[in-house]
Amino acid sequence: MFISSVFVFSLVTLTLALPPTKRAVAYVDPNLGGGSMLDDGRMKVIISGLSSPAVLTDDGFLNFAQAIGFSFECLDLHLGGPQSANLGDGNGYVNQTTELRQDYGDALLGTCLESLIGGNHLRVFRQNGSEADTGALFLAVSKEENVFEGHTIVPDGYNIGRDLLVQNATNTNPLPSFGGVTYSATLEQVTGLLPAGSAGVNHGIATDGVTSVLTVTIV
Ligand SMILES: *[C@@H]1O[C@H](CO)[C@@H](O)[C@H](O)[C@H]1NC(C)=O
Ligand SMILES: *[C@@H]1O[C@H](CO)[C@@H](O)[C@H](O)[C@H]1NC(C)=O
Ligand SMILES: *[C@@H]1O[C@H](CO)[C@@H](O)[C@H](O)[C@H]1NC(C)=O
Repeated sequence: MFISSVFVFSLVTLTLALPPTKRAVAYVDPNLGGGSMLDDGRMKVIISGLSSPAVLTDDGFLNFAQAIGFSFECLDLHLGGPQSANLGDGNGYVNQTTELRQDYGDALLGTCLESLIGGNHLRVFRQNGSEADTGALFLAVSKEENVFEGHTIVPDGYNIGRDLLVQNATNTNPLPSFGGVTYSATLEQVTGLLPAGSAGVNHGIATDGVTSVLTVTIV
């Protein structure tokens, strides 16, 4: 008992002591590996694999998301089922890793408010299969109507959701910051990953064909 606790403790220490290694590739186009940028909606934002490694972990991404105005989903109020996507990395279809909702400045209660009045909604998928292990996070973002309108996505919601997120992430005055961690992000607008238009998209809402690739660095 005592020995195994010591063993576990030293394993934990060892894991913490090894910084995650920085990735070498920003992302791989899911289409190349038989995947797609469509889940039930569209993935319009990529957090590049070249970001600070800590940003690409679940906890690290959550902290970054909080810095730009998202938080844990309100209590257990799930208004939609999990969505799945195939990022062409050899993992096939996987479920989203996290579901975060815009928090309106209150990390604990704000998501409840969002569920009621609508807001920017985010689903996260990680590209880490053995055929494209970039560590990049693919985000499906959408701006939703309030619950009284059935919590559907507003017209042009995919583009607006992306633009709101990108605007906050690339803000330089002040830089986004949460929990004592400050971020600086560079933006590359990429076309060709997604077709423009509404074919195959949830709710039939069209999008432009632009994907925003953010490289997020902890400063
Ligand atoms: C973005 O920043 C604005 C202004 O600071 C804030 O009101 C908003 O909640 C933030 N979050 C999102 C996801 O737009
Ligand atoms: C996603 O989650 C749902 C509900 O938990 C589950 O039924 C489904 O099998 C999962 N799909 C994948 C691809 O893991
Ligand atoms: C890949 O990401 C998924 C989703 O976050 C995670 O559950 C899984 O453990 C990761 N796989 C590896 C090999 O790190």
